[in-house]
Amino acid sequence: MTKERGGLVAGNWKDVNMTVKRSLDWGSDFGSLVTKTTLNPALQLILFPPFLVTYPLKQRLFESEATKKMMDDDYLALGAQDISPVEGEKTRVTGSHHPNLLKEVGMNHVLLGHSERRMHLGESDELIGRKLLMAIKYGITSILCVGETIEEYTAKKTKDVIRTQLSVLNPLSTDERKRMSVAYEPVWAIGTGKTPKADEANDVCGFIRKESGAGNVIYGGSVTPENAAEFFSKSEIDGGLPGGASENADKFFGIAQAASNLL
Ligand code: PGA
Repeated sequence: MTKERGGLVAGNWKDVNMTVKRSLDWGSDFGSLVTKTTLNPALQLILFPPFLVTYPLKQRLFESEATKKMMDDDYLALGAQDISPVEGEKTRVTGSHHPNLLKEVGMNHVLLGHSERRMHLGESDELIGRKLLMAIKYGITSILCVGETIEEYTAKKTKDVIRTQLSVLNPLSTDERKRMSVAYEPVWAIGTGKTPKADEANDVCGFIRKESGAGNVIYGGSVTPENAAEFFSKSEIDGGLPGGASENADKFFGIAQAASNLL
């Protein structure tokens, strides 16, 4: 991490875990933590909750003065796990999430290209690219996830795979690229407790920075409070995208603190 680029820690909550009740408890716990210990405001925190918990979670976060202030200052934000690729003026798409609706509930960030959506919902680079353009058109900031499978990793194809995934950025201007982030998430590291070595992740993040021109490049895949500082202290890694660990307020706070201490 560098002071100039600042840091970004985003929590990616899973629909199977984060029920409304659990999300509300998370909100209360996180409120108590940030009331006791403040984090460096040079750090941007984003939560990506399942859609249905967004609104009650936002209300809960507004109940604590500390989290309300963080949200008012846009230093803690809520983001969407999907966005409609269709403008909707002439075509309606049942079940999709129009950017105007996202903005209405205060979601000005979107997570795109997560490997679970690529794998289980068949999201292609073409579809991800359309979602990215929609986000840009409506002023929503994207975090694009890229990363290789274990087979591709073993065959040393990581950079080739990522170069192809980054082709969705081709239509973007230099400024549009700077305003977004890319998360390097090796598929084999997600939810497995396995990670690449920090130096290895740093090398790939450096490659992503050069190829993408993104404002922030972060690492995701089994990030924990224990390993976060090791990743974040690397020059090319501007923060993290924890999944499982972010579902626990103490652990998310620990990861955010590791980033906060480095800024
Ligand atoms: P994990 O998930 O931290 O549980 O590996 C990361 C993610 O889903 O983005």
